[in-house]
Amino acid sequence: MDLDQTISALHSAFVAQLDRASTLEAIEAVRVEALGRKGKLSEISKNFGKLPPEERKTAGARLNQVKQDLEARLEARKADLQSTALDAQLESEWLDLTAPAPGPRPGSLHPVTQVQREIEDLFVSLGFTVLDGPEVETEFYNFDALNIPADHPARDMQDTFWLKDGRLLRTHTSPVQVRGLEKLGPPLKMIAPGRVFRNEEVDPSHEHTFYQLEGMMVDRDVSVAHLIYFMKTLLSAVFHRDVTVRLRPGFFPFVEPGFELDIQCIICAGKGCPVCKQSGWVELLPCGLVNPAVLRYSGVDPEQWNGFAFGLGLTRLAMMRYGIDDIRLFSSGDLRFLRQF
Ligand code: DAH
Repeated sequence: MDLDQTISALHSAFVAQLDRASTLEAIEAVRVEALGRKGKLSEISKNFGKLPPEERKTAGARLNQVKQDLEARLEARKADLQSTALDAQLESEWLDLTAPAPGPRPGSLHPVTQVQREIEDLFVSLGFTVLDGPEVETEFYNFDALNIPADHPARDMQDTFWLKDGRLLRTHTSPVQVRGLEKLGPPLKMIAPGRVFRNEEVDPSHEHTFYQLEGMMVDRDVSVAHLIYFMKTLLSAVFHRDVTVRLRPGFFPFVEPGFELDIQCIICAGKGCPVCKQSGWVELLPCGLVNPAVLRYSGVDPEQWNGFAFGLGLTRLAMMRYGIDDIRLFSSGDLRFLRQF
C-alpha cells in the first residue's frame, strides 16, 4: 500500500467511525485519534522527511485535504448532535405558559355557612333583613329583656359562660330580637344568624359552641297562621322535600304561646339514633308569638304591634341536611370531613 492509499484508507475509516459516533464524547475520541498530536495522521507526517521532495509535496497536500475534510465533518456531526440534544431537552422541559397555574386547591364553604347562606337568601327574598349581634352580650339583652328575670328557672336551662365583668357569651341569638327592634322599630322582619355558647358537656349532639338563626316578624295583626306559613316555607326550602314535622306546646319566656317544632330524624328515619337521642325526633325549631313584655322592653307598644319569633338550630339543621352524626366534627378542623362539602 503506498502512502496515498494509506491516507485514503484512514480517511474512510474515520468517516465511518464518525458516522457511528452518537455522543459528543465519541466524536471527541475520533478527533483525538485522527487529528490529535499523537493521532494517526500526525504519525504519518512524521515519516514525510524520508520521502523525496516531489512525493513529500503531493502527500502533504493530500494529508491536509483529508485533515480539513475530517475537521469539517467533525464540526458538522457535533452541530448535528447538539441540535438533536437541544430538541430533546426542549421537548422534555416544555412548559405551557398559557396553562392556568396549579396554585392552592380550591376550598369550599363550611357546611354550616352553606346552610346559613341558603336560608339568608330565602328570607331576603321574603323581605327579611339580615342582622348581626355581639357574641359578648350583656345580661340585659341575653336574659332580662327577653323576659327571663334573674330568679327565673329558665336561666338554668341555658348554662352560661360568664365573664368577669358581668357580661356573658350569648347563649342564644334571641338578644338580637331586642337589639333589632330598638334600632329599626316596627314593622320589622329580620333574621339573625350567629354563634352561641353554652357551658355544657360535649357529646355527639352537644357542643359548647354552635350556630343558631333567630327570626322575627313584628307587624300589625300577626298570627300563628303567619308563623306556620313561614316555618313551612323555610323547611321545604332547606330539605328540598317534605319533612315530617310535629308541633308541641313549648315554654320560652319570650313567646306566648310558645311551640316546639320537631322534625322526624332524617339520619335514622325515626328509628332512633344518637343524634335524636333514640327518640326519632329532633327539636329543630322552637317558636311562638312574641311576648308583649319583650316588645315593651324593646320600646315597642304591644297594643299596636305584635309578632312571631323562632330560633332555628343552624348547626343541628346542617347535621340533618348532610347526615352528620357527630356535632363535634364541625369545629374539629379535620380536612377529611370538610373536603366533603
Ligand atoms: N332562644 C331559644 C334557645 O336558644 C330558642 C328560641 C325559642 C328562639 C323560641 C325563639 C323562640 O325566637 O320564639 O333555646
